[in-house]
Amino acid sequence: MIPAERFMELALAEARRGLGGTGPNPMVGAVIHRDGLVLATGYHARVGGPHAEVDALAKLSADGARGATLVVTLEPCSHHGRTPPCVDAILRAGIARVVVGMLDPNPLVAGRGVALLQQAGVEVQQPCLPEACAALNEPYVKYITTRRPWVTLKLASSLDGKIATGCGDARWVSGDAAALQVHRLRAQADAVLVGSGTLLQDDPSLDCRLVPHRRQLLRAALDTRLALPLTHKLASPGGLGPVLLFHGPQADSDKRAALLGRGVDCVEVPATAAGLSLPEVLAELGRREVCRLLVEGGGGLAGSLLGAGLVDELYWFVAPKLVGADGVCSVGALGVERMAQALQLELRSVERQGQDLLVIARPLRP
Ligand SMILES: NC(=O)c1ccc[n+]([C@@H]2O[C@H](COP(=O)([O-])OP(=O)(O)OC[C@H]3O[C@@H](n4cnc5c(N)ncnc54)[C@H](OP(=O)(O)O)[C@@H]3O)[C@@H](O)[C@H]2O)c1
Repeated sequence: MIPAERFMELALAEARRGLGGTGPNPMVGAVIHRDGLVLATGYHARVGGPHAEVDALAKLSADGARGATLVVTLEPCSHHGRTPPCVDAILRAGIARVVVGMLDPNPLVAGRGVALLQQAGVEVQQPCLPEACAALNEPYVKYITTRRPWVTLKLASSLDGKIATGCGDARWVSGDAAALQVHRLRAQADAVLVGSGTLLQDDPSLDCRLVPHRRQLLRAALDTRLALPLTHKLASPGGLGPVLLFHGPQADSDKRAALLGRGVDCVEVPATAAGLSLPEVLAELGRREVCRLLVEGGGGLAGSLLGAGLVDELYWFVAPKLVGADGVCSVGALGVERMAQALQLELRSVERQGQDLLVIARPLRP
């Protein structure tokens, strides 16, 4: 007999096809087999679209899955969300056995899907490759349990750790391969965020034009006084995706009205001595169903987020260049006096991207 894990690996590969389309939903894959013969596969491609189980069932005739086994990376849903409950579709199709990768941490599901299947006489096996299933959806697990986005901080620095020259020129620190990778990261994210230093200095468009993408990205910035010039790109959202500016109470109300009139969303958040309240910013992004947030600097915002323990993952491009002491530091002050106090990172991978290195790391939580 072919072990369930083999089918789960296939279901995981299906699930990954949804990368960049499902937020704030998880990526989910499904395989339907009978006696080891695969009848259909499916995945969740986009939020609001069919769930993986329903996508796979739709490829079979009404009776085609009767008595078969369904292998699915995440517990089938039991509630009416954007789509009807998958448990109902599974029962209607007459599936005899369900292998579940992991329970859904969504409080609306959290074991209810499995319980309903069992109550209806369906045999359920779970978990199956739970670490791999959880790793696939780390951002979703964080989002659904905390209502805060998973935060990926991306920076590109010279070998001596500078993200711009002394006069603020950062075009371009890293090369074409890195730029392509950044656009891929944007295409996988639900929103991108920059600080006002970057907003004013670089006038970025923050789009993902270099790669195919399924959805429009929310483009957000911290701009305490709403200093964004109306001639800057983000002041004219156009068709490139919505723009959201976080500002403090001191922002000028006429400027706010002008920006709103141009289709730029403006949200006031409390200001602290260290700048706008980052927990409030993340909470607002969570309310807007941002599951994956890509932060693209600059150094001031990077320092605030890292110092507050709000970064989940770093994508750091290192270019074989030296800028010298007058360049802009990658990360603002962290209050580290002794090396023993340095923020420790866990290295996940180091790879070459053209002439540059890409270091992927995660802050180690105390
Ligand atoms: N190489 C790279 O990867 C890269 C990436 C991005 C930028 N850059 C370069 O970096 C430079 C900009 O970096 P930067 O450090 O000057 O500016 P930044 O990090 O982009 O923005 C910092 C500014 O954001 C606003 N802000 C509001 N609340 C904040 C909070 N809680 N924490 C931090 N900032 C908050 C503040 O300005 P207000 O009070 O005015 O709102 C603050 O001065 C530019 O030269 C840019 O070209 C390089």
